[in-house]
Amino acid sequence: MKLTDFDVYRQLLLDQSGLDLTQDKTYLLESRLKPVAKKWGYPTLEMMTMALNGVPEPGLINDIVEAMTTNETSFFRDGKPFESFEKHILPYLAQTRAKAKNLRIWCAASSSGQEPYSLAIALKELQPQLPNWKIQILATDISEEILQQAAEGRYTQFEVQRGLPVQLLMKYFKQDDDKWQLDESIRSMVTFYRLNLIEDMRKLDMFDIVFCRNVLIYFNEETKRTVIENMLEHMEPDGFMVLGSSESPLGITDKIKGISDHRGLYVRADGPHADAAKATGT
Ligand SMILES: C[S@@+](CC[C@H](N)C(=O)[O-])C[C@H]1O[C@@H](n2cnc3c(N)ncnc32)[C@H](O)[C@@H]1O
Repeated sequence: MKLTDFDVYRQLLLDQSGLDLTQDKTYLLESRLKPVAKKWGYPTLEMMTMALNGVPEPGLINDIVEAMTTNETSFFRDGKPFESFEKHILPYLAQTRAKAKNLRIWCAASSSGQEPYSLAIALKELQPQLPNWKIQILATDISEEILQQAAEGRYTQFEVQRGLPVQLLMKYFKQDDDKWQLDESIRSMVTFYRLNLIEDMRKLDMFDIVFCRNVLIYFNEETKRTVIENMLEHMEPDGFMVLGSSESPLGITDKIKGISDHRGLYVRADGPHADAAKATGT
């Protein structure tokens, strides 16, 4: 691919999704875009670039963005954040929200649903601690296609084998042909909604917990800062933010602080937990 073509796709992806491609990803770009060019009837990627330089169809742009998203995920991915959720975050919120009995969680790049469903399963298991609570889990992603898949709650053998303890598989899933179907009691706890993290998120509510894992790594520093700070606008002052294990905000924003011994867990630097937190950088 010529550098001029690469630059067209790089700029489009940056503007549309925040994905900041470096030139060493040219091969990835080509391999993912070839099927899009074929679908839209362009014999070569260069011809698709020419179409993009004119007045491109919104559907084409959408297909390019979708093709470049990486949806890698798994149930209870990385373990530790779910441990912090169960042992640290929930006991605190169960106490401080005891009167309202209301818990709101936002999973900001939810991919095919394993992350929000892991939270829903964990909450279902802990329900005796939260009797008659109203629990809302909002799961958002830029990709309509992946959100549709997520809402179905159907997973392959390979997907359920990754991270899901077998007793939870047996308890909450039923085998249906070659897939595992998640129980309605868990699916109904999660609402899926399309949201691009680099676009206006003002219509979102406030949340007690914001999970945003393994998406900031695709953004440049400026976008990371904007996204973290915009998400903070939707986090209660004493709320919690969970980032991916390799997504330290160090040098990007000082508005959140990491909590010692809870990798990936952050609180507002000007909030009530700030003293218990150490400087950003976990
Ligand atoms: C690697 S997955 C992470 C899934 C899950 N959070 C986890 O850690 O397992 C990244 C997800 O971010 C989504 N994504 C990429 N850019 C986005 C954007 N600008 N706004 C919202 N979601 C985005 C992708 O569609 C993809 O599903």
